[in-house]
Amino acid sequence: QAAGPLAGRHVLVTSGPTHEPIDPVRYIANRSSGRQGHAIAAALAALGARVTLVSGPVALPDPAGVSVVHVESAREMLAACEAALPADAAICAAAVADWRSAGEATQKLKKVPGAPPPPLALALNPDILATLAAHARRPGLVVGFAAETENVVPNAIAKRRRKGCDWIVANDVSGDVMGGAENTVHLVTEAGVEDWPRLPKAEVAARLAARLAAQLAEPETRP
Ligand code: C5P
Repeated sequence: QAAGPLAGRHVLVTSGPTHEPIDPVRYIANRSSGRQGHAIAAALAALGARVTLVSGPVALPDPAGVSVVHVESAREMLAACEAALPADAAICAAAVADWRSAGEATQKLKKVPGAPPPPLALALNPDILATLAAHARRPGLVVGFAAETENVVPNAIAKRRRKGCDWIVANDVSGDVMGGAENTVHLVTEAGVEDWPRLPKAEVAARLAARLAAQLAEPETRP
């Protein structure tokens, strides 16, 4: 039986990129490594939480003590998240592809000599964070990420309202954050903005898990 401040709590975490198929062999993706999301899942488990990690395709091992659901596309990620509810908290750290191919070909698209390239029409993917934040079985604390290269904090404050989540972890990805080992983040809550120093991703995860545990320990306060 798990011990720690999050014992008996269930936390849902999304991590990694999504892959959006174009045809059976090609896909649209992004540069997310999943390192921050996986570190958060591990940190929550270390505090005793039951963690469901819904992960897109990553090159990382499954964190110990975490139940991992492997998905590829945004729509699969959303379905896995909804299937994992109820949860006491959700942390959406995945870099979900905003768009998918509008018409997924069931056969490999053929390169026809002399013909122009095929058009790639895009369709909007579901917003997993916003969906969980508005869900009938909404987790008590919903946390999103904001990866920005400029106006990091103002954009994160606006994003918090737009998405309907409780906290936004804003990270400045203008440098070597994506795929790197360190992260500089700002925690945006109802109460204001905290600037955290540049830290290893594992340390960002540990601090966030501790904050989450403190929040869930206060049943009367809205996150
Ligand atoms: O809208 P934007 O991608 O900037 O928001 C980032 C936050 O929203 C992250 O927490 C990310 O996991 C989440 N998100 C999501 N589903 C999407 C797009 C973003 O859950 N389709």
